Amino acid sequence: MKIGIDKLGFFTPDLYVDMAELARTRHEDPNKYLIGIGQAKMAVIPPTQDVVTMAANAAQRILTVDDKEQLDLVIFATESGIDNSKAAAVYVARLLGLKSNIRAFEVKQACYGATAGLQLARDHVALFPRSKVLVIGADIARYGLKTPGEPTQGGGAVALLVSADPQILALDKQSAYQTQDIMDFWRPLGQTEAMVDGKYSSNIYLEFLDHVWQDYQQKTGLKLEDLAAVLFHLPYTKLGLKGIRQLTTGAEPALTLRLTKEFEHARTFNRLVGNLYTGSLYLSLLSLLQQSEQLIAGDRLGLFSYGSGAEAEFYSGILQPDFKAGLMGVDYSQLLANRQQVSVDKYEHLFKQQLFHAATEELDYSNDPARFVLAGVKEYQRQYLEH
Ligand code: HMG
Repeated sequence: MKIGIDKLGFFTPDLYVDMAELARTRHEDPNKYLIGIGQAKMAVIPPTQDVVTMAANAAQRILTVDDKEQLDLVIFATESGIDNSKAAAVYVARLLGLKSNIRAFEVKQACYGATAGLQLARDHVALFPRSKVLVIGADIARYGLKTPGEPTQGGGAVALLVSADPQILALDKQSAYQTQDIMDFWRPLGQTEAMVDGKYSSNIYLEFLDHVWQDYQQKTGLKLEDLAAVLFHLPYTKLGLKGIRQLTTGAEPALTLRLTKEFEHARTFNRLVGNLYTGSLYLSLLSLLQQSEQLIAGDRLGLFSYGSGAEAEFYSGILQPDFKAGLMGVDYSQLLANRQQVSVDKYEHLFKQQLFHAATEELDYSNDPARFVLAGVKEYQRQYLEH
């Protein structure tokens, strides 16, 4: 039985800051951000959006009434949770109008969380082939204003519907994974910004890539030439470029050219959004599916998932005949092009407005065009609504 990604939805707010302008304000050469880091625009998250609203906004783009009927599991991956006890999945299930005889919970392992969710979802469908599972990856990447990590911020949510006979990608059974206790990036309880050893984290990412790629080849007998494209977790797109260069070292020039071209398609949307932590790999998949003109049904894609702390997995899947239909006709290039640019001043203001510790506060959501918004907090209870 084929099991995998049946539908894929994405949401990021309608605001962005231009990276050349941010670089100039920070007294950096714009090419450092545009080429050296590989980011052109960065999503700006208004206080009326958080992981719950972004997830609901992404999921409502793909779910039909029939999907909702068959869904019996919601796995919400995030490292930007809004409560220490209650799972974001429970709020999302209510906002989406899901039935109550479902399981709904949250998982965390930095940017690896959504991949953990996807693999668990696959196992669930293997046991219960008529079930559908909603896997969400939603985060807001925050390092702080004027920090080295600042140009690698961003945010958004992906929603993956996992089922038997999927429309987009049928997952291969065999994959390679690795976990090691490493302090490259973490966020202690109570802190609203991540702590990171940036250069170390980038080196560890590439070391883990090498390890799981060797292991994947050994386990599957597959080689680089068996892959039509390789997708990466993209904390900033230059790191994925280093990844593809590492994998193609010593490869035939034609193979290197083909994989590098597909990588350019796969990083297009991530260059315009920034890091969305655990959703980043799946935004890159979406980008590849909408940008590439070479891919055909039957092509095998390799996917490298990395989460600091650290955990990585290299897995693969086969593109299905109707893979474009799984994006539900949404033109994400257009959606991203239609966002409003905000000044660096406005971005800084919004950055400081995110609701973290407020007991009671009302938010003005009249300028937020998203369907689901955060209207404020009342006695520590977040007020979500559809408008
Ligand atoms: P930095 O120290 O400001 O940058 O931090 P730099 O000085 O290393 O420059 C960056 C690149 O720009 C360099 O290229 C420069 O040469 C180049 P590289 O040596 O890397 O090839 N450069 C220029 N290029 C063209 N024209 C110019 C120019 N000037 C310089 N004029 C850093 C950069 C990424 C470290 C920082 O932004 C950071 O700490 N980011 C956050 C950490 C991060 O993203 N780590 C990635 C791996 S960990 C991961 O993926 C997990 C994560 O997503 C979290 C999770 O799992 O939850 C982060």
